[in-house]
Amino acid sequence: MVQYKSKMVERIHLPERAEREHALEAAGYNVFNLDAEDVFIDLLTDSGTGTMSEAQWAALIRGDESYAGSKSFARLESSVDDVMGFPHVIPAHQGRGAENVLYGTLLEAGDVALNNTHFDTTRAHVANQGADPVDCPIPDAADPSADGDFKGNFSIERGWEIVEEVGADRIPVVIQTITNNSTAGQPVSVENTRRVAAFADEINATFVIDACRFAENAYFVTEREDTYADATVAAVAREQLGYADALVMSGKKDGLVNVGGFVATDDERIADRCRQRAILYEGFPTYGGMAGRDMEALAVGLREAVEVEYVRDRIEQIRTLASLLEDRGVPVYTPTGGHAVYLDAEACFPHLPPSAFPGQVLVCELYREGAVRGVELGSFAFPGTDRPELVRLAVPRRTYHREHFEHVADTAAAVLERAEEVSGLEIQTEPEVPELRHFTAELEPVSS
Ligand code: F0G
Repeated sequence: MVQYKSKMVERIHLPERAEREHALEAAGYNVFNLDAEDVFIDLLTDSGTGTMSEAQWAALIRGDESYAGSKSFARLESSVDDVMGFPHVIPAHQGRGAENVLYGTLLEAGDVALNNTHFDTTRAHVANQGADPVDCPIPDAADPSADGDFKGNFSIERGWEIVEEVGADRIPVVIQTITNNSTAGQPVSVENTRRVAAFADEINATFVIDACRFAENAYFVTEREDTYADATVAAVAREQLGYADALVMSGKKDGLVNVGGFVATDDERIADRCRQRAILYEGFPTYGGMAGRDMEALAVGLREAVEVEYVRDRIEQIRTLASLLEDRGVPVYTPTGGHAVYLDAEACFPHLPPSAFPGQVLVCELYREGAVRGVELGSFAFPGTDRPELVRLAVPRRTYHREHFEHVADTAAAVLERAEEVSGLEIQTEPEVPELRHFTAELEPVSS
């Protein structure tokens, strides 16, 4: 049962079927091109789309907009230190800004970065330094029906294989993303984090945790890792993050705010280098692209994120959505991860080959059927890889309720009922950079 009530509401609207058909066509069968007001339930992302608490709204008023040394920065610093255990904080406008600051200081052309699975922007920032992003997921990670408590884990065996291949000298950075967004939001155990830290230490690499969803991850640890059954979410979070040399954070996730991010570290040398780069790309190191008021809201949000009442409801919401879908026979990735339910589009449309973009077809049909917006994470978003054809339904924090999820599940069930009639899509126009294709490309139904 959710432990909050609504204090401010936003009208949402379900457009008529004809309007949805028209909007979809006008968007070039790419839901990134839709107007948000034409979307009834928006599960495109959990990033920056959550609802702030009354304490966060109140904190905004305190925002100190001084260019240097603001009180708001001091409050953010002490919140990061209390919740995450890192004394040096370099704010950034959002997670990818923090990635640019940190990876720009740690990586050079020809280097290799290892990660359980690189999130898109992480991959792009590593590549932008001329370095090579290499994933080290565990073997079951890509299997939508394999069991496993921690399918997000980093495969140390795979890590050592890469060390053998390229040599430790070329690997200055080892990253662990918790939860593992690109592997269906699956959690990572503290045991795995400890082992990855030791591995990074052995090869003399800096160990970075991408902490975007650190509180959700810690909650799974309290549920599934025996040693931590009696620990608090806050204590697990501090311990797990404590193995890292540095964190990259998007406040838009477990910071419970609409915008903002930071690098945090206990290594003064890394902090100094990041501050220099932050001045160039983000802003003076005591605001780094964030308004004082946004730092205030983030300082409060980080503390709320590790309250068990909040994070338990959060994970339970995702499970509610998953079980409503499963009850209606919709194939989902299992076990359910932290921030989203992932639908298995291949299983929904067995008659569509990857070249017909079954995931993108499912995204479009969910919109056509019920004005629900999700995102494709298969052959359309990741050209040239053999990833499973998944569709992510990401749940904004503290925003939707069970009735909304029932609508989503009914919508998906209605699409499944007419699955055989659905035809594939083909790309009409696409941008130059293939990695960014799914944001702006336009498609059309394949004429049969
Ligand atoms: N790292 C991870 C694991 C992420 O999920 C994201 C963003 C980022 C870094 C970058 O943060 O958006 O603040 O610049 N993920 C969003 C998503 C966009 O929809 O999954 P950002």
